[in-house]
Amino acid sequence: MNQFLPKAIQSVRVPPIKCQGIKTKLVPFIARNISWDGKGRWIEPFMGSGVVAFNLRPERAVLADTNKHIIELYNDIKSGKVTEVIVKNYLTEMGNKLLEKGEDFYYEVRDEFNSSGGSLPFLFLNRACFNGLMRFNSKGKFNVPFGRKPERFRKAYVTKITNQVAWVRSILHAVDWEFVVSDYKKIMAIVQANDFVYMDPPYIGRHTDYFNSWSVDDARHLAKLAEDLSCGFALSMWLENKYRRNNHLDLHWNGYQVRTYEHFYHVGSTESLRNSMTEALVIKEGFASLQSVAKKLDKAALQHELFSLPFDK
Ligand SMILES: C[S@@+](CC[C@H](N)C(=O)[O-])C[C@H]1O[C@@H](n2cnc3c(N)ncnc32)[C@H](O)[C@@H]1O
Repeated sequence: MNQFLPKAIQSVRVPPIKCQGIKTKLVPFIARNISWDGKGRWIEPFMGSGVVAFNLRPERAVLADTNKHIIELYNDIKSGKVTEVIVKNYLTEMGNKLLEKGEDFYYEVRDEFNSSGGSLPFLFLNRACFNGLMRFNSKGKFNVPFGRKPERFRKAYVTKITNQVAWVRSILHAVDWEFVVSDYKKIMAIVQANDFVYMDPPYIGRHTDYFNSWSVDDARHLAKLAEDLSCGFALSMWLENKYRRNNHLDLHWNGYQVRTYEHFYHVGSTESLRNSMTEALVIKEGFASLQSVAKKLDKAALQHELFSLPFDK
């Protein structure tokens, strides 16, 4: 049978926007551990940046988020209202103004965005702000401070973002995807038996804002809704680090298949201090790939990375 997943993803590409909890590092791990025939829709109730769907490229998808700005940007790219040429011209012009006026200009754009919205200012703010964060206050106003680099929108940076938009647009031409502003509960209710639901909810109690608040009750409710799903599903969630284990997984997601992935993050600014974090992928019975296949696909990806090293290095 022709399966859509598992598959080896050789190199992960990043979409034009960044958000907290972006799964760039985990995409190959997700792709090789899920088994799904791809006959229904790939459904993400918590799409965030969209990095998972854009790299997997299912034929049909429903990608939802409560954050209306993310959804508006992708709908504008899909409809052709925002293209790579428009983005290039816009960011070049905005970059020049930022260089000329400095951080005051950033705050002017932020105020304007907070009163009138718009995909292009959203993209500019996301790529100009401190650490590429996406954070809103309790009234839904974008409140990340300036990233302190007025010279940021150099030609190479604008080209990079432009290429990311072109990549997303080329995918959206070829697929049947819907981007929806919605709370996860509504999306969990439209699922059909052939679909596959990939859930990547916010961290419990980690960080709260207008679009991104997540309580223990929400987390429990999601587990309950997943239990009743008629189709396959997988959930991404942190499992443990040196100091803590995520009890929520033990309490509310036990009895499912769990695949784990360990990655490292730097502590503070010191390169030498690293801590490890184990991420879990909880998978509904019957939808996890064979361990042996997942391992083989992992090796395939590693070999590709080795072979693609430039010969003169
Ligand atoms: C951890 S992020 C998803 C990251 C995404 N998988 C990626 O790789 O970029 C969680 C997302 O859930 C969204 N969200 C928060 N509460 C939500 C809710 N109640 N319903 C739907 N989406 C929600 C947030 O706006 C955020 O984009």
